[in-house]
Amino acid sequence: MSRKKLIAGNWKMNKNSAEAVALVAELVAVAGKQTDVEVVVCPPFTALEGVAAKLEGAEIRLGAQNMHPEKSGAYTGEISAEMLRALHATHVILGHSERRTYFGETDAFINKKTLAALKAELRPILCVGETLAEREGNQTLKVVQTQIEAGLDGVTKEQAAQLVIAYEPVWAIGTGKVATTAQAQEVHAFIRGLLVRLFGESVAGKIRILYGGSMKPSNAPELLAQPDIDGGLIGGASLEARSFLELITAAAAAK
Ligand code: PGA
Repeated sequence: MSRKKLIAGNWKMNKNSAEAVALVAELVAVAGKQTDVEVVVCPPFTALEGVAAKLEGAEIRLGAQNMHPEKSGAYTGEISAEMLRALHATHVILGHSERRTYFGETDAFINKKTLAALKAELRPILCVGETLAEREGNQTLKVVQTQIEAGLDGVTKEQAAQLVIAYEPVWAIGTGKVATTAQAQEVHAFIRGLLVRLFGESVAGKIRILYGGSMKPSNAPELLAQPDIDGGLIGGASLEARSFLELITAAAAAK
């Protein structure tokens, strides 16, 4: 089963709206028409509207970095799936380890967001991954299994094809320490097996599983050549047009 590679940029809390528009203009100029790789950029909320305008007519999709599960109401400081859809967002990162760690997000809360995103026809990029202590304690697969099963509770087979999973070992995020290809492929294959159990072979074969954690042009070709690594969720290297474009090129070559 061949899956189109997906390269997603997670800009985190970087770039004001003018800087975001400038960066995305560079991406559109070089990669706005290519269709070999699916490309998604996830700027901060404040830049979504400006970036959406720049992306008009381009083959680059827009994602948000988080959302609230409710449609609207008294949730000061929050943003709903419907608001994101109104800005033409197509994807949303959910359950990033920084949200789990710094904002106390639980699997149950992330699950509500996943269900709400799917209902609003936003594609969740559900992030899972173990900490260094969990890896050293041989808990990696157990942690990932719990995060996937709890995060996807109640997702139907029909909805599941819309999912994107990002395996991001917490110890590799922003640290320059990348998982070895063997470590990453082992977890990706395990996740694929879980998805087969949850949704059946054919649906599981369509779900993209991204690797995230210090992915950059120098290590991407080897990671992207693995059978179950279908792309990357890129933090640091997505903040400059040059490195992000090189990652798109690497994904195109690995297809
Ligand atoms: P990094 O971040 O590429 O800077 O390690 C990845 C992520 O957190 O999504």
